[in-house]
Amino acid sequence: MRTDGSNPIREAARILAERRNAVALTGAGISVESGIPSFRGAQGMWAKYDPAEYATLHAFVLSPRKVWEMLSEMVSVCGGAEPNAAHQGMAALEKMGVLRAVITQNVDGLHQAAGSRRVIEYHGNMETLVCISCWKRYPTRKRWTPGTVPLCDCGEILKPDVVLFGEPIPWLAQEQAEEEARTCGVLVVIGTSAQVSPACDIPRIAKESGAVVIEINPEPTSLTATVTDIHLPGIASEVLRRLIDELSLADETFPSIPSGH
Ligand code: OAD
Repeated sequence: MRTDGSNPIREAARILAERRNAVALTGAGISVESGIPSFRGAQGMWAKYDPAEYATLHAFVLSPRKVWEMLSEMVSVCGGAEPNAAHQGMAALEKMGVLRAVITQNVDGLHQAAGSRRVIEYHGNMETLVCISCWKRYPTRKRWTPGTVPLCDCGEILKPDVVLFGEPIPWLAQEQAEEEARTCGVLVVIGTSAQVSPACDIPRIAKESGAVVIEINPEPTSLTATVTDIHLPGIASEVLRRLIDELSLADETFPSIPSGH
Protein backbone atom coordinates (compact mmCIF):
# COMPACT_ATOMS: atom_id res chain seq x y z
CA MET A 1 0.00 0.00 0.00
CA ARG A 2 1.22 3.50 -0.80
CA THR A 3 0.56 6.56 1.31
CA ASP A 4 1.69 10.07 0.49
CA GLY A 5 3.38 10.27 3.91
CA SER A 6 2.49 13.91 4.46
CA ASN A 7 0.14 13.31 7.40
CA PRO A 8 0.35 9.67 8.49
CA ILE A 9 -2.06 10.10 11.42
CA ARG A 10 -4.74 11.49 9.09
CA GLU A 11 -4.07 8.74 6.58
CA ALA A 12 -4.34 6.07 9.29
CA ALA A 13 -7.60 7.61 10.53
CA ARG A 14 -9.01 7.68 7.01
CA ILE A 15 -8.24 3.99 6.48
CA LEU A 16 -9.64 3.00 9.90
CA ALA A 17 -12.83 5.00 9.25
CA GLU A 18 -13.29 3.50 5.80
CA ARG A 19 -12.67 -0.12 6.75
CA ARG A 20 -14.09 -0.22 10.31
CA ASN A 21 -12.91 -3.78 10.84
CA ALA A 22 -9.62 -3.28 12.60
CA VAL A 23 -7.92 -5.63 15.01
CA ALA A 24 -5.07 -4.65 17.33
CA LEU A 25 -1.99 -6.57 18.39
CA THR A 26 -0.51 -5.13 21.58
CA GLY A 27 2.66 -5.73 23.53
CA ALA A 28 4.39 -4.57 26.68
CA GLY A 29 4.86 -1.02 25.34
CA ILE A 30 1.16 -0.21 25.80
CA SER A 31 1.43 -0.91 29.54
CA VAL A 32 4.66 1.05 30.11
CA GLU A 33 2.59 4.16 30.92
CA SER A 34 0.86 2.10 33.65
CA GLY A 35 4.24 1.57 35.31
CA ILE A 36 4.79 -1.99 34.04
CA PRO A 37 8.28 -2.42 32.60
CA SER A 38 8.63 -3.86 29.10
CA PHE A 39 10.92 -6.85 28.47
CA ARG A 40 13.67 -5.65 26.17
CA GLY A 41 15.87 -2.57 26.45
CA ALA A 42 17.91 -1.12 29.30
CA GLN A 43 14.96 -0.79 31.71
CA GLY A 44 13.30 -4.04 30.64
CA MET A 45 12.68 -7.19 32.69
CA TRP A 46 15.24 -9.16 30.68
CA ALA A 47 18.00 -6.72 31.70
CA LYS A 48 17.34 -7.79 35.30
CA TYR A 49 16.35 -11.42 34.82
CA ASP A 50 17.99 -13.61 32.17
CA PRO A 51 15.01 -15.21 30.41
CA ALA A 52 16.92 -18.48 29.98
CA GLU A 53 17.19 -18.74 33.78
CA TYR A 54 13.84 -17.23 34.75
CA ALA A 55 11.31 -17.47 31.94
CA THR A 56 11.39 -20.96 30.49
CA LEU A 57 9.24 -23.94 31.41
CA HIS A 58 12.47 -25.90 31.86
CA ALA A 59 13.74 -23.37 34.43
CA PHE A 60 10.40 -23.49 36.28
CA VAL A 61 10.42 -27.29 36.47
CA LEU A 62 14.05 -27.28 37.64
CA SER A 63 13.93 -24.42 40.16
CA PRO A 64 10.42 -23.00 40.64
CA ARG A 65 11.43 -21.04 43.76
CA LYS A 66 14.07 -19.17 41.80
CA VAL A 67 11.64 -18.42 38.97
CA TRP A 68 9.15 -17.12 41.55
CA GLU A 69 11.67 -14.34 42.40
CA MET A 70 10.79 -12.86 39.00
CA LEU A 71 7.15 -13.98 39.01
CA SER A 72 6.54 -12.31 42.40
CA GLU A 73 7.70 -9.02 40.96
CA MET A 74 5.47 -9.45 37.90
CA VAL A 75 2.40 -10.43 39.92
CA SER A 76 2.89 -7.48 42.30
CA VAL A 77 3.48 -4.93 39.55
CA CYS A 78 0.59 -6.17 37.40
CA GLY A 79 -1.74 -6.46 40.42
CA GLY A 80 -1.14 -2.84 41.41
CA ALA A 81 -1.37 -1.33 37.92
CA GLU A 82 -4.26 0.67 36.47
CA PRO A 83 -5.15 1.00 32.78
CA ASN A 84 -3.66 4.10 31.14
CA ALA A 85 -4.99 6.41 28.44
CA ALA A 86 -3.79 4.06 25.72
CA HIS A 87 -5.82 1.12 27.09
CA GLN A 88 -8.78 3.49 27.39
CA GLY A 89 -8.23 4.66 23.83
CA MET A 90 -8.42 1.06 22.62
CA ALA A 91 -11.70 0.54 24.50
CA ALA A 92 -13.01 3.79 22.96
CA LEU A 93 -12.12 2.58 19.45
CA GLU A 94 -14.08 -0.61 20.11
CA LYS A 95 -17.12 1.40 21.28
CA MET A 96 -16.87 3.55 18.16
CA GLY A 97 -17.14 0.43 16.00
CA VAL A 98 -13.66 0.90 14.55
CA LEU A 99 -11.85 -1.89 16.40
CA ARG A 100 -13.37 -5.35 16.75
CA ALA A 101 -10.76 -7.21 18.83
CA VAL A 102 -7.50 -6.85 20.71
CA ILE A 103 -4.92 -9.62 20.57
CA THR A 104 -2.54 -8.98 23.44
CA GLN A 105 0.76 -10.55 24.41
CA ASN A 106 0.37 -8.88 27.81
CA VAL A 107 -0.66 -10.82 30.89
CA ASP A 108 -1.75 -7.82 32.99
CA GLY A 109 -5.51 -7.75 32.24
CA LEU A 110 -5.42 -3.98 31.66
CA HIS A 111 -7.32 -4.01 28.34
CA GLN A 112 -10.27 -5.69 30.06
CA ALA A 113 -9.97 -3.30 33.02
CA ALA A 114 -10.21 -0.37 30.58
CA GLY A 115 -13.41 -1.77 29.08
CA SER A 116 -12.26 -3.65 25.96
CA ARG A 117 -14.70 -6.53 25.51
CA ARG A 118 -13.06 -8.79 22.95
CA VAL A 119 -9.54 -9.47 24.21
CA ILE A 120 -7.54 -12.50 23.09
CA GLU A 121 -4.84 -13.24 25.65
CA TYR A 122 -2.12 -14.80 23.54
CA HIS A 123 0.33 -15.40 26.40
CA GLY A 124 -2.24 -16.18 29.12
CA ASN A 125 -2.75 -14.05 32.23
CA MET A 126 -1.55 -13.48 35.77
CA GLU A 127 -4.98 -13.82 37.34
CA THR A 128 -4.86 -17.59 37.51
CA LEU A 129 -2.36 -20.05 38.93
CA VAL A 130 -2.09 -23.56 37.55
CA CYS A 131 -0.49 -26.74 38.86
CA ILE A 132 1.64 -28.33 36.16
CA SER A 133 1.40 -31.65 37.99
CA CYS A 134 -2.38 -32.11 38.53
CA TRP A 135 -3.64 -29.13 36.42
CA LYS A 136 -5.80 -27.70 39.20
CA ARG A 137 -6.34 -23.93 38.83
CA TYR A 138 -6.73 -21.20 41.47
CA PRO A 139 -7.33 -17.43 41.41
CA THR A 140 -3.91 -15.84 42.08
CA ARG A 141 -5.28 -13.40 44.69
CA LYS A 142 -6.62 -16.32 46.77
CA ARG A 143 -3.45 -18.39 46.70
CA TRP A 144 -0.49 -16.00 46.61
CA THR A 145 0.77 -13.39 49.05
CA PRO A 146 3.96 -11.34 48.60
CA GLY A 147 7.06 -13.12 49.80
CA THR A 148 5.56 -16.59 49.48
CA VAL A 149 5.57 -19.30 46.84
CA PRO A 150 2.02 -20.56 46.14
CA LEU A 151 1.32 -24.26 46.60
CA CYS A 152 -1.29 -26.54 45.08
CA ASP A 153 -3.42 -28.77 47.32
CA CYS A 154 -1.31 -31.63 45.91
CA GLY A 155 1.86 -29.99 47.31
CA GLU A 156 3.44 -28.81 44.03
CA ILE A 157 4.49 -25.21 43.44
CA LEU A 158 1.92 -23.39 41.29
CA LYS A 159 2.75 -21.52 38.09
CA PRO A 160 0.92 -18.42 36.83
CA ASP A 161 -1.20 -19.31 33.83
CA VAL A 162 1.15 -17.42 31.52
CA VAL A 163 3.16 -18.79 28.63
CA LEU A 164 6.80 -19.34 29.51
CA PHE A 165 9.36 -19.93 26.77
CA GLY A 166 9.06 -23.57 25.72
CA GLU A 167 5.30 -23.69 26.35
CA PRO A 168 2.69 -23.70 23.58
CA ILE A 169 0.33 -20.80 23.00
CA PRO A 170 -3.13 -21.62 24.45
CA TRP A 171 -4.88 -23.41 21.58
CA LEU A 172 -8.06 -21.31 21.46
CA ALA A 173 -6.17 -18.01 21.68
CA GLN A 174 -3.92 -19.00 18.82
CA GLU A 175 -6.86 -20.12 16.64
CA GLN A 176 -8.82 -16.94 17.37
CA ALA A 177 -5.84 -14.65 16.84
CA GLU A 178 -4.99 -16.18 13.48
CA GLU A 179 -8.63 -15.99 12.38
CA GLU A 180 -8.75 -12.29 13.36
CA ALA A 181 -5.50 -11.66 11.50
CA ARG A 182 -6.75 -13.40 8.36
CA THR A 183 -10.04 -11.52 8.25
CA CYS A 184 -9.32 -7.99 9.52
CA GLY A 185 -9.08 -5.01 7.19
CA VAL A 186 -6.54 -3.18 9.34
CA LEU A 187 -4.10 -4.49 11.94
CA VAL A 188 -2.93 -1.90 14.46
CA VAL A 189 0.30 -3.10 16.10
CA ILE A 190 1.08 -1.24 19.31
CA GLY A 191 4.05 -1.41 21.67
CA THR A 192 5.65 -4.67 20.62
CA SER A 193 9.17 -5.30 19.41
CA ALA A 194 7.71 -8.28 17.46
CA GLN A 195 10.66 -10.46 18.34
CA VAL A 196 8.80 -13.38 19.90
CA SER A 197 7.34 -16.16 17.80
CA PRO A 198 4.59 -17.04 17.01
CA ALA A 199 3.06 -13.67 18.01
CA CYS A 200 5.34 -11.92 15.53
CA ASP A 201 3.70 -13.91 12.70
CA ILE A 202 0.33 -12.21 13.28
CA PRO A 203 1.21 -8.98 11.38
CA ARG A 204 2.56 -11.01 8.45
CA ILE A 205 -0.61 -13.16 8.34
CA ALA A 206 -2.77 -10.03 8.33
CA LYS A 207 -0.68 -8.36 5.64
CA GLU A 208 -0.69 -11.43 3.38
CA SER A 209 -4.48 -11.59 3.78
CA GLY A 210 -4.87 -8.01 2.52
CA ALA A 211 -4.91 -5.93 5.72
CA VAL A 212 -3.26 -2.54 6.06
CA VAL A 213 -0.74 -2.67 8.93
CA ILE A 214 -0.47 0.43 11.11
CA GLU A 215 2.30 0.41 13.72
CA ILE A 216 2.39 2.60 16.83
CA ASN A 217 5.80 2.54 18.50
CA PRO A 218 8.32 5.25 19.40
CA GLU A 219 11.04 3.07 17.84
CA PRO A 220 11.19 1.25 14.52
CA THR A 221 10.95 -2.56 14.85
CA SER A 222 11.67 -5.49 12.58
CA LEU A 223 8.16 -4.97 11.16
CA THR A 224 8.58 -1.30 10.29
CA ALA A 225 10.54 -1.66 7.07
CA THR A 226 9.03 -4.95 5.97
CA VAL A 227 5.37 -5.39 6.97
CA THR A 228 4.20 -2.00 8.24
CA ASP A 229 2.32 0.30 5.87
CA ILE A 230 2.06 3.30 8.20
CA HIS A 231 4.41 3.83 11.16
CA LEU A 232 3.12 6.30 13.73
CA PRO A 233 6.11 7.05 15.96
CA GLY A 234 5.35 8.08 19.54
CA ILE A 235 4.06 6.73 22.81
CA ALA A 236 0.80 4.81 22.62
CA SER A 237 -1.45 7.16 24.62
CA GLU A 238 -0.41 10.23 22.66
CA VAL A 239 -0.64 8.65 19.21
CA LEU A 240 -4.02 7.06 20.00
CA ARG A 241 -5.37 10.38 21.27
CA ARG A 242 -4.36 12.09 18.03
CA LEU A 243 -5.72 9.21 15.98
CA ILE A 244 -9.10 9.35 17.74
CA ASP A 245 -9.23 13.14 17.28
CA GLU A 246 -8.58 12.67 13.55
CA LEU A 247 -11.17 9.92 13.34
CA SER A 248 -13.84 12.14 14.79
CA LEU A 249 -12.96 14.83 12.24
CA ALA A 250 -12.88 12.30 9.41
CA ASP A 251 -16.29 10.90 10.19
CA GLU A 252 -18.94 12.75 12.16
CA THR A 253 -21.18 9.68 12.24
CA PHE A 254 -19.15 7.97 14.94
CA PRO A 255 -21.10 7.51 18.17
CA SER A 256 -20.07 9.78 21.01
CA ILE A 257 -16.36 9.63 21.64
CA PRO A 258 -15.57 9.64 25.36
CA SER A 259 -14.11 12.96 26.51
CA GLY A 260 -10.33 12.96 26.61
CA HIS A 261 -10.14 10.57 23.63
P1 OAD B 1 9.26 -5.79 24.27
O1 OAD B 1 9.83 -5.34 25.57
O2 OAD B 1 10.06 -6.73 23.46
O3 OAD B 1 8.95 -4.53 23.35
C1 OAD B 1 8.26 -3.42 23.83
C2 OAD B 1 8.06 -2.44 22.68
O4 OAD B 1 7.27 -1.35 23.14
C3 OAD B 1 9.36 -1.84 22.13
O5 OAD B 1 9.36 -1.95 20.72
C4 OAD B 1 9.29 -0.37 22.57
O6 OAD B 1 9.90 0.50 21.61
C5 OAD B 1 7.80 -0.14 22.66
N1 OAD B 1 7.38 0.90 23.62
C6 OAD B 1 7.97 1.28 24.77
N2 OAD B 1 7.25 2.23 25.40
C7 OAD B 1 6.16 2.46 24.62
C8 OAD B 1 5.02 3.31 24.72
N3 OAD B 1 4.84 4.13 25.77
N4 OAD B 1 4.10 3.26 23.72
C9 OAD B 1 4.26 2.42 22.67
N5 OAD B 1 5.30 1.60 22.52
C10 OAD B 1 6.24 1.60 23.48
O7 OAD B 1 7.81 -6.38 24.62
P2 OAD B 1 6.90 -7.34 23.73
O8 OAD B 1 7.12 -7.13 22.28
O9 OAD B 1 5.51 -7.23 24.25
O10 OAD B 1 6.66 -13.19 26.26
O11 OAD B 1 7.47 -8.74 24.14
C11 OAD B 1 6.87 -9.88 23.59
C12 OAD B 1 7.02 -11.03 24.52
O12 OAD B 1 8.39 -11.16 24.93
C13 OAD B 1 6.29 -10.90 25.83
O13 OAD B 1 4.91 -11.20 25.74
C14 OAD B 1 7.02 -11.87 26.69
C15 OAD B 1 8.44 -11.51 26.33
O14 OAD B 1 9.37 -12.49 26.47
C16 OAD B 1 6.90 -14.26 27.02
O15 OAD B 1 7.39 -14.15 28.12
C17 OAD B 1 6.49 -15.55 26.40
